[in-house]
Amino acid sequence: MKHFYFNRRGFARLGIIGASCLLISHAVLAEDTRQRATLPPAAQESLRQEMLDNLLAINEILTLVAADKIKDAGDVAEQKLGLSAQGKNRSLPFEARPGPHMPPDMHALGMDGHKAASEFAKAARAGERDRALTLLPNLTSACVGCHYSWRTR
Ligand code: HEC
Repeated sequence: MKHFYFNRRGFARLGIIGASCLLISHAVLAEDTRQRATLPPAAQESLRQEMLDNLLAINEILTLVAADKIKDAGDVAEQKLGLSAQGKNRSLPFEARPGPHMPPDMHALGMDGHKAASEFAKAARAGERDRALTLLPNLTSACVGCHYSWRTR
């Protein structure tokens, strides 16, 4: 019976495969084609905190929808992600406000996200379950849309 074992050539091959994998993964990591927005450190920190709140909000909305509490999901969406959630940073010093430091295209993506959340919220609060479900993916698409186009570091 022929046993499977690694002779010297086997190891050499393994080495070549390993090296290729390293090269490929390095090439993938080095390729970040997203545009970079340079925000003042304080604004970047506010943005990061806001993003963590966004993540919580999305999780809360999905949990409520799954529990068939559509109207509650609408309330959370409007308050935490919708147009009503805008302007939270207005009282902060200018340096700490992310919005005014964003390039217009990036800012517009943020606005689209607020609008998408409010559109979902309107249907959900009206108890239009099917319409709300159809609009639900637009909430996460807004996150994806910006994250795939922009970075701050
Ligand atoms: C307008 C663009 C934009 C939109 C829309 C957006 N993000 Fe972000 N997000 C960013 C940027 C830029 C960062 C990197 C911030 C940094 O660390 O400098 C980020 C970072 C994050 C982080 C990492 C926070 C950390 O601790 O480092 C999370 C989580 C996140 N976003 C969640 C979301 C969710 C959820 C949504 C949708 C509801 C969303 N984001 C929508 C631009 C956006």
